[in-house]
Amino acid sequence: MHDHPIQQQIEYYRARAAEYEEWFFRQKRYDRGPELNRQWFVEVAKLRSVLRHFQPRGHVLELACGTGLWTQQLVRYADRVTAVDASPEALELNRARVRSKHVDYVRADIFNWRSEARYDLVFFSFWLSHVPPDCFESFWRLVRSCLHEHGRVFFIDSLYEPTSTARDHRLNAPQSATVTRRLNDGRVFDIVKIFYKPAELEASLKALGWSIKVESTGHYFLYGNGGVAIKPELGEKNERTLLAPFSSRGLGKPAHSGAGAKCECAA
Ligand SMILES: C[S@@+](CC[C@H](N)C(=O)[O-])C[C@H]1O[C@@H](n2cnc3c(N)ncnc32)[C@H](O)[C@@H]1O
Repeated sequence: MHDHPIQQQIEYYRARAAEYEEWFFRQKRYDRGPELNRQWFVEVAKLRSVLRHFQPRGHVLELACGTGLWTQQLVRYADRVTAVDASPEALELNRARVRSKHVDYVRADIFNWRSEARYDLVFFSFWLSHVPPDCFESFWRLVRSCLHEHGRVFFIDSLYEPTSTARDHRLNAPQSATVTRRLNDGRVFDIVKIFYKPAELEASLKALGWSIKVESTGHYFLYGNGGVAIKPELGEKNERTLLAPFSSRGLGKPAHSGAGAKCECAA
């Protein structure tokens, strides 16, 4: 296994691909009982409804597409989806689920990838929380570089909620930048996981020149949508606002992730 957190995450999700959806479908170790499961699926339905109203049209780039839980939603509305992930196992499962000639698959490490095309929408679900704080800014530069002038962004992620994860996982304090995850075979991985608060995340994105509204579904999820602010001030960031999600983690600035990750991304 590689030491660098970005490589470790890739290894972790490759090893987890076949059991990944147990989390989403609240099965086995992720089954939290009827009441909490019901709450989860109500919020998943809310996300699907928000996405439907958002109308993800045109050519969509899905980053960290995984096994296709959201690719199959996007392909209902988009003309084409380009789906990127570092895990060949996840891409294979995605292909098998979605079975659409309107989806192109790209195996790549997002932190070392450049898009040659420009898209109408960049979508990512349960991905931003795995971007090391060090790479936050460069990741958003990558997103910007993938968009047409009036392109849009839609993302979904986790709120800090201990019942979101497996019964045998313990979340660290909300301000931590990592979680310890166990696979069904007992292997253990430490990965980056940042639990953003919607208002803080919205402010950080604003400081990077984005106009993105970030909202909560209540208990389990946050989602954001928008685009580049009308007068983009990319690069002229307001340090205080940009640091908001990180300062509470004792991270003086994004350049110090607390997750041991020094950004080596090409973005
Ligand atoms: C939490 S899963 C989310 C999958 C999918 N978006 C979903 O909502 O079900 C994170 C995904 O990121 C992928 N991933 C992890 N590190 C990556 C990297 N550096 N580059 C590209 N994909 C990566 C994993 O293979 C995994 O499919």
